[in-house]
Amino acid sequence: MTAHAIIGSGSFTPTRVVTNEDMSRIVDTSDEWIVTRTGIRERRLASETESTSYMAAAAASAALIDAGVKAEQIDLLIIATFTPDLPMPATACLVQTMIGIPSKAACFDINAACTGFVYALDTAWAMLASGRYQHAVVIGAEKISSLINWNDRTTCVLFGDGAGAVVIGPAPSGSTGRFIGSKLGAIPGTSAVLMVPGGGSSPVQTDAARFITMKGKEVFKLAVRAMDDVARDILAAHGIAADDVACIIPHQANRRIIDAIAQYLEVPIERFFINVDRYGNTSAASIPIALDEARRAGRIKSGDLVLLVAFGAGLTYGATLVRF
Ligand code: COA
Repeated sequence: MTAHAIIGSGSFTPTRVVTNEDMSRIVDTSDEWIVTRTGIRERRLASETESTSYMAAAAASAALIDAGVKAEQIDLLIIATFTPDLPMPATACLVQTMIGIPSKAACFDINAACTGFVYALDTAWAMLASGRYQHAVVIGAEKISSLINWNDRTTCVLFGDGAGAVVIGPAPSGSTGRFIGSKLGAIPGTSAVLMVPGGGSSPVQTDAARFITMKGKEVFKLAVRAMDDVARDILAAHGIAADDVACIIPHQANRRIIDAIAQYLEVPIERFFINVDRYGNTSAASIPIALDEARRAGRIKSGDLVLLVAFGAGLTYGATLVRF
């Protein structure tokens, strides 16, 4: 069976930088409060024309160039997002047209909130392993600023916009690159701690229901437990010690959550790639943006074992082990 590997990556973040100082002019908050509680110093916010599809297309184009793969070769396009341009069609179909992916390609969106990219990666990997697809583009893209209540200081300081993408294809001959394994899950009965109550087909359709609501403390505890458990599970399932992992790319929601995971897994924090300070929580885009930055910064080398681990609304969780 052909081994499939991540052969390219790309990302796009809007140019507009909004610092904590800027946030303190919008709501009653401070740089000190945001940094100590979350580690976030600034985030990027998309302009009106920078839609989720626009950012996704930009990230995918960069990933295709990096991989040396042409859009015509792609036969699978998956976008993880909970902020699609439209309820339908899927954002993947909009991006397909924007970057010239041919009609033979399967194109669809996945919504697992902040775990979305890990879910999408596992889906793409399984479809490629079936032998019926050859090259996939997997994107995480979010315009979360469109679902933020800018009067709610408990949520608005946490999030940002952006997109990241990878190209997955047959591993080049001689390379060790391949997927090792993946574990996905969701915790029943936890939907109410993090949600957008309206905007779908539910009868809840007030203006306020269009925005993200969150019980921060509960999410924090569930997130640490879920990420620690799933990271341990996947390492144990493949007989790999945490110490053998060269780089851990966690969902970038909160620096304190990442510190707690590092402590529980007993992995030095330097082994984690962290950029939450610059982008805040970009949900499904957070892992692919971080992965792209880590590769371009030389933090991931050929042969390295990399662990991606995430949690998000649902609550969903997941982890993927990849060798580069
Ligand atoms: N600026 C200043 N004060 C703020 C504030 C802000 N932006 N947001 C909340 N506060 C206030 C609260 O109103 C509260 O005041 P009170 O005690 O007078 O009621 C106080 O700060 C403490 O709030 P608390 O909720 O106890 O803070 P916390 O230590 O739990 O930190 C979060 C809040 C949101 C940073 C933290 O709970 C968290 O990160 N949770 C996980 C969120 C997450 O990752 N979500 C995405 C999942 S994918």
